[in-house]
Amino acid sequence: MINTTQSRAVESTQTGIHEHIESLVRKHTVSQYLRPIPDFSRSAFQEFERQFAASGKKHIIVDSCCGTGESTAHLAAHYEDCFVVGVDKSAHRLGKHLLHREAINASNYVVLRADVEDFVRLLEPYLLFIDKHCIFYPNPYPKPHHIMRRWHGHPLFATMLHLAPLTELRTNWRLYAEEFAFAASLLGYTSRMQEMQDVQPISAFERKYHASGHTLFQVVVERP
Ligand SMILES: C[S@@+](CC[C@H](N)C(=O)[O-])C[C@H]1O[C@@H](n2cnc3c(N)ncnc32)[C@H](O)[C@@H]1O
Repeated sequence: MINTTQSRAVESTQTGIHEHIESLVRKHTVSQYLRPIPDFSRSAFQEFERQFAASGKKHIIVDSCCGTGESTAHLAAHYEDCFVVGVDKSAHRLGKHLLHREAINASNYVVLRADVEDFVRLLEPYLLFIDKHCIFYPNPYPKPHHIMRRWHGHPLFATMLHLAPLTELRTNWRLYAEEFAFAASLLGYTSRMQEMQDVQPISAFERKYHASGHTLFQVVVERP
């Protein structure tokens, strides 16, 4: 299991929204992301297509960077009418999923090993089916020069937001939430940012941060 001992709050020398986020987001709107899609992501995507078709569902929820896939199973139990796909690139984390599958009563989901960078591009033909895109506790990359590793600084940010009418980010770093919401607004999206209340953890990192007394932030972005 993931270590649930005290976790330190995110520390960064950055004190406000990154000075380059606006120029980065604008630059990425006029460039194309051409990184080839590797076979392991393509195979995972084929498995998603097979299982989604077999599920008979008409609605999809995407749980990007799902870690052990605990949130994926919780989302599936909560949204019974949807098929939920959890994606993470860590075989190690996904290897711990079985415990959640046994503990949480849901079968309308799959967790797959793939790179989110590939999966969000492969999902393009399914846009009409996708109701929600969840990104829970992405790695914060607090060093200012790692801004492009944060999802809102990534060339695929627009593609990620375009995936669903609703995108929900959760993070324990206020600045990440503020930057994400700001970057979304630059692309014409409206967003609501709030501190989470009465947290009932649905993922390993949510549980760890909550148990450590961190304030948890939620940003809900709506497609125009
Ligand atoms: C801090 S963990 C959060 C995991 C989970 N969402 C949770 O709340 O417990 C971040 C996760 O993002 C995954 N990740 C980072 N970049 C990724 C990418 N490009 N594609 C897929 N997974 C990625 C990591 O493997 C890791 O499991």
